[in-house]
Amino acid sequence: MTGHTHVRVAAPKKWMDGWDKIYSQMLSASDEELSQLNVGSRIQQLEHALAITESDAKNMDVLELGCGYGSVSCYLAKMGCRLVAVDALVSAIAVAQKRANILNLNENVEFRLDDMDGWPIELESYNVVIALQCLQYLFDRTVPRMREAVAAVKPGGFFVYSGNILPHFDTDPPIRFIDEEELKSELEGWTIHGFGTEERIMKPGDKRGYVWIVARKPGLDE
Ligand SMILES: C[S@@+](CC[C@H](N)C(=O)[O-])C[C@H]1O[C@@H](n2cnc3c(N)ncnc32)[C@H](O)[C@@H]1O
Repeated sequence: MTGHTHVRVAAPKKWMDGWDKIYSQMLSASDEELSQLNVGSRIQQLEHALAITESDAKNMDVLELGCGYGSVSCYLAKMGCRLVAVDALVSAIAVAQKRANILNLNENVEFRLDDMDGWPIELESYNVVIALQCLQYLFDRTVPRMREAVAAVKPGGFFVYSGNILPHFDTDPPIRFIDEEELKSELEGWTIHGFGTEERIMKPGDKRGYVWIVARKPGLDE
């Protein structure tokens, strides 16, 4: 992909170029490969939480920030949810859109090429807001945008988050880590359906920490 590969964002070009390379390669994957939606444990945990709270996927509005190649959004659209999914990379939106076309999900999912920050998210307007491995790249806007995302969840709705924590190699600019305590204090009073931290060695000398949460906002009668 050449030319304008992403909208203007806070993350350095080098990082955006790294993700762009991965998504651009995916564009030449077969329809069969793209139709396989491999979602990780965070979304499995959300699916479980939806099931045990008897939430009806068919009536749910979902916002996904930094959606990348679109597997998560397509997976939830397949369950019947209506999604708006945002990413700043042309290649991400192209591969995500291609997936939705192959799976005939266009009625349920709108992939939007945009900055995930810099526009208002209506208060209590989504049943689920998802932000996996992305808010940390907003730096000084990470926490304010997270608060806006959290405020956008309807009573009884869900917030699904993951991000890096220490240990992590130094970056320039420094990633805004949201640690376990900070995350839980932002979601005080919510029901925690799933929470975890882990460390992964990506390659020798590169150990990275992660935190994730699936939490439900108190409902109107709770
Ligand atoms: C580490 S990837 C995570 C993608 C996906 N959420 C996942 O978990 O596989 C980070 C994503 O955030 C997107 N991104 C970074 N800054 C962004 C911004 N300001 N607005 C929208 N997307 C952004 C990148 O394009 C990339 O797709």
